[in-house]
Amino acid sequence: MDSIVVTGGGELRGEIPIAGAKNACLTLMPATLLSDEPLTLTNAPRLSDIVTMTTLLASLGAEVTSLQDGKVLAMSSHDINNLTADYDIVRKMRASILVLGPLLARAGQAVVSLPGGCAIGARPVDLHLKGLEALGARLDLRDGYVHAEARGGLKGAVVDFPFASVGATENVLMAATLAKGTTVLNNAAREPEIVDLAQCLRSMGAEIDGEGTSTITIEGVDRLHGATHPVVADRIELGTYMLAPAIAGGEVECIGGRMDLVRAFCEKLDAAGIEVTETQRGLKVARRNGRVRAVDVVTEPFPGFPTDLQAQMMALMCTAEGTSVLEEKIFENRFMHAPELLRMGAKIDVHGGHATVTGVERLKGAPVMATDLRASVSLILAGLAAEGETVVSRVYHLDRGYEHVVRKLSSCGARIERISA
Ligand code: UD1
Repeated sequence: MDSIVVTGGGELRGEIPIAGAKNACLTLMPATLLSDEPLTLTNAPRLSDIVTMTTLLASLGAEVTSLQDGKVLAMSSHDINNLTADYDIVRKMRASILVLGPLLARAGQAVVSLPGGCAIGARPVDLHLKGLEALGARLDLRDGYVHAEARGGLKGAVVDFPFASVGATENVLMAATLAKGTTVLNNAAREPEIVDLAQCLRSMGAEIDGEGTSTITIEGVDRLHGATHPVVADRIELGTYMLAPAIAGGEVECIGGRMDLVRAFCEKLDAAGIEVTETQRGLKVARRNGRVRAVDVVTEPFPGFPTDLQAQMMALMCTAEGTSVLEEKIFENRFMHAPELLRMGAKIDVHGGHATVTGVERLKGAPVMATDLRASVSLILAGLAAEGETVVSRVYHLDRGYEHVVRKLSSCGARIERISA
């Protein structure tokens, strides 16, 4: 198994290109199932999660061709010949559940494996299922699979989500584009990836209004047509690389970064004493005045501080002056990076959904283990600020969500390499 070795201490200077958003791409890809005409995505990220979704779509009969070194995904779902999403693929990635709504809408039936638990919490899919049931689907849970049927087609309805779930909003939004009549999604998630999905669906002929707010209205149409759509920039990759000069010192310009994608996060960086400026090409981040200040963080649905940046922010707080409290409100078990950061000399006390972090002047390199995607990159960030060598093992987590991490950071002067065991 590969590991990543980081030798900390040096400042970073340079520019890092920000890729298309993994989470947007993983919901845009299943949208191909809604139409028999081609859907092409540009600005796609090169990640193992995208390969997993490609395998899943191919297992259903879709054609997915990766062009321009993976940056373009040309998809066609002209011939859907299998309506079962198998456990062996679904268990690798929760986002696989996003084929359920589109398959049901297009074919009137689908059988999709339940994704099961994952390292950061139970993460059920009840809201996805309730939303589809509201559109008239009949669902039956058997042998670990959701058996879904809507023989006469889905029907528009009012769906009240008790919690603004990103995935449930996406699944029901896609399904509603082909339902008969009007669907209203109340308490819909407002994440930029949902706005991106709605824009793509609209370019395929869907009638959607209100994305980016908590009420989305969809007027069902008979069919969707082909389209070409650029994937929105990855705000989590952006925030992660913005933290690199914040923790290591120096100045880095994140090319393609947009302030509107990371506003709540930037407010925290500002309070910590990090300079962020908008440039022609993206966002420039600099740490100029010694140690950062401790700031408290609460994770919330968009536009709040994203849970997917909590682990990375904790790495920064480990080196801050003072004590900060990080509260995780989205997932119940998302502090698994804390024990690894402790191995690097951090002072962290986890109690329930809170972590109290007292900054230390200098972290110390250590062998550490990645436990999930965002945890793995938080350990790399910590390694940039640590004295000596940090060896991060289990980096396959990293490959799910960060393309060319070694290349991007080393181009700014980081001493980082990947070692194959
Ligand atoms: C998406 C992102 C993930 C991010 C998360 C929150 C993708 C592929 N993944 O995940 O990176 O961390 O949003 O921003 O886009 N819940 C239920 N029932 C459901 C659905 C969700 O109880 O049916 C709960 C979850 O367990 C969790 C919370 O709601 O505690 C948020 O989940 P949700 O917004 O659905 O996240 P995902 O779409 O899974």
